[in-house]
This record gives sequence, C-alpha cells and structure tokens, in this order.
Amino acid sequence: MRNILGGLFLLILPSCFADKSTSGAALYQDHCAGCHGEQGQGLGRLIPPLAGADYLEKHRYELPCLIRHGMNHPIVVNGVAYQQVMPGDSLTPAKITNLLNYVENSWGNQHTRRTIAETTDLLRACPVVE
Ligand code: HEC
Repeated sequence: MRNILGGLFLLILPSCFADKSTSGAALYQDHCAGCHGEQGQGLGRLIPPLAGADYLEKHRYELPCLIRHGMNHPIVVNGVAYQQVMPGDSLTPAKITNLLNYVENSWGNQHTRRTIAETTDLLRACPVVE
C-alpha cells in the first residue's frame, strides 16, 4: 500500500511543479534571482536592484522588451550608474506578464498589474535588435 501511494505521489508531484513553473515567483527564481538576488536586492555596483527600483516605474513600457532582448547600455537606478550586460531571455508573453507582475508587486514594490494582451502588444513593438 505504501508503495502504491509513493508511486502515486511521484506521478502527481511533477505535474504540480509543471504548473507552478509558470508562476511569477517560480519564473523569477529560475531566470532572474541568480543575478538580481532572492529579494531583488541586486549586487553592489554590478547588478541593479529590482526592489524599490525607480527604473521599474520610469521604464514600465520597455520592461517586456528588456527581458526578452536584454540590455547593455549605461543606466541609472536609484541614482546609481550601472554599465553591465544583461542577457535576453526568450520567454512567452504569458510568462513575461507573470514574471513582471511578481517583480512589480514584491519586496515593497506596488505597481499596476499587467495583462497578457498589454505585454503582447509591447513585445510586438520591441526595437529591432541585431
Ligand atoms: C546574468 C545576470 C542577469 C540576469 C539573469 C538577469 N538580469 Fe536583469 N540586469 C542585469 C544587469 C547587469 C542589468 C544592468 C544592465 C546595464 O547596466 O545595462 C540588469 C538590468 C535589469 C533591469 C533594469 C534596471 C533595474 O534594476 O530596474 C530590470 C528591470 C531587470 N534587469 C530585470 C530582470 C528580470 C525580470 C530578469 C529575469 C528574467 C533578469 N533581469 C535577469 C543582470 C541580469
């Protein structure tokens, strides 16, 4: 009986995780936390913070393209200058929406929630990157 239950668990668990992997929190863990930190705190002068970052509000409409295509030009976040490279990440519009809703409403951040339609439109208009 134990074994049967154990087997059931093994069958059920992966599907729970599969669902979870599209949640904003899980996507953040997998795709962003390694650089920006578990709490969005950034890393010194190398990686800008996401927690309390004025950049999020100022560049709200550019963020989906930033995530998809990365960035490598000088920026200023909360008065601190950064000039590093962030690689792009080919996530779907739905995942980028979940991810940004998570980032923009965690660690004290409170921004208007995004819809997938809004993100899709913004992604269509991304500047062409070579
Ligand atoms: C390899 C490290 C790395 C990864 C992974 C990464 N970033 Fe970045 N990110 C950076 C760096 C470095 C910059 C600053 C780039 C510059 O100076 O031009 C940056 C800039 C940003 C900015 C604009 C500045 C700010 O702090 O508000 C946002 C927003 C952002 N990243 C979000 C994300 C999200 C969301 C993810 C996950 C999909 C992610 N990043 C993954 C390194 C990374």
